[in-house]
Amino acid sequence: MDLQKKMNVVLLALLIVSYLATGGTNRVYVHPFYLFSFENISCEVIQSKDPKPLETIHPVTRLQDSTEPDPRPSTRPKTLKNLSQRTAVLAELQNSLGLRMFEKLSCRKDTGNILLSPFNAFGSLVTLYLGASKKTAIPYQQLLGVNWESDRADCVYLIDGHTVLRTLQAINSLIDGPWDELRTLVWTFVSSDANLSKDYVRGMQDFSDASFVRAVNFSQPEEAEAQVNSFIHNTSDSKMENLFTALSPSTNLLFASSVHFKGSWRTAFQPEKTNIQDFRIDKKSSVKVPFMIHTGDYMHLDDPGRKCSIVKLSLSKRTYMLLVLPHVEAFTVNRPFFFAIIEGTSNAILLLGKILNPTI
Ligand SMILES: *[C@@H]1O[C@H](CO)[C@@H](O)[C@H](O)[C@H]1NC(C)=O
Ligand SMILES: *[C@@H]1O[C@H](CO)[C@@H](O)[C@H](O)[C@H]1NC(C)=O
Ligand SMILES: *[C@@H]1O[C@H](CO)[C@@H](O)[C@H](O)[C@H]1NC(C)=O
Ligand SMILES: *[C@@H]1O[C@H](CO)[C@@H](O)[C@H](O)[C@H]1NC(C)=O
Ligand SMILES: *[C@@H]1O[C@H](CO)[C@@H](O)[C@H](O)[C@H]1NC(C)=O
Repeated sequence: MDLQKKMNVVLLALLIVSYLATGGTNRVYVHPFYLFSFENISCEVIQSKDPKPLETIHPVTRLQDSTEPDPRPSTRPKTLKNLSQRTAVLAELQNSLGLRMFEKLSCRKDTGNILLSPFNAFGSLVTLYLGASKKTAIPYQQLLGVNWESDRADCVYLIDGHTVLRTLQAINSLIDGPWDELRTLVWTFVSSDANLSKDYVRGMQDFSDASFVRAVNFSQPEEAEAQVNSFIHNTSDSKMENLFTALSPSTNLLFASSVHFKGSWRTAFQPEKTNIQDFRIDKKSSVKVPFMIHTGDYMHLDDPGRKCSIVKLSLSKRTYMLLVLPHVEAFTVNRPFFFAIIEGTSNAILLLGKILNPTI
């Protein structure tokens, strides 16, 4: 990740973004379900006697046939109504999911540096949601924060996943190219004798800049694994390697997604000013790493309650990075964090990370 390379000490605290996200807006509360439901809201019967068969497609492009992204429909979908309201609500849902995931990851003892994209996590889950049965769709909706409880046991209210994904793309398009860019790729590898839900495949396209659906014969799992990993490597500009391990002959489906964010500092760091300094890993130890140095006027906040200082570094017009530097005495509890954020109606978090040891 280019951005990661450009940063050395990058630091932050979880609560800050929730307070940024709620500041300044004064809108009427609308349950997220209503912003992302179909125009015709109806309770979908879970188990009807005569179920309409799920529309599926049989992927015929084999992994070895082509490394070109799948073709997309040329017709442009209708523009979404209430877009600013939708992006604002979606940004909050996405941030909340990302922070919950990040907290869980941080609790694991063995974790090193952590980097997570709430944007990518949310979009991936909505894509999988589109392939889920009505029953399975409900836990997804609950996790995403868009569920509307049904008062009947035999039916459920479903959101329109395509609208969610297109709203996510609208957040993405707030980034100003060519200085800052965000590129999303999605892959699905499916067993050669299985079919995929049409909605799911369309969802992969709604969500990503490029998508790949490939049929794979998993009967020889080691061979399939090498091929799949090589395919991802070749189609991700060599950015991802050996993603999947331990495939088995019973593997049916593999899903992968990636987000690549490249930001440019509004005020560039001068490479000749970089010098080697101590980065504290914990109270006792430190490692030597190159620190980038820049002097200028920056928005800054010192928070004695949360024992941290926050600095805002501008990227392009609508994106910025928040660095949270924990106070020295807070080091054992409060690890260094950073957030990359898109401003606008939404303050959506693109990336969120924690650096425990920059030399790992
Ligand atoms: C909405 O529901 C009405 C009545 O149930 C139906 O006539 C109409 O076609 C539906 N519209 C859509 C977009 O599904
Ligand atoms: C997959 O779709 C093909 C036609 O597209 C159909 O012949 C086949 O039976 C389907 N397979 C499954 C497992 O549903
Ligand atoms: C969306 O906008 C329309 C007007 O364009 C308005 O009538 C409607 O109430 C809005 N929907 C929501 C959920 O706010
Ligand atoms: C997968 O490969 C095995 C041999 O490696 C072959 O027997 C089997 O027919 C293949 N399955 C499909 C669906 O092509
Ligand atoms: C990936 O690229 C390498 C080198 O060009 C090639 O040998 C390999 O077959 C490619 N793998 C796939 C799955 O296309």
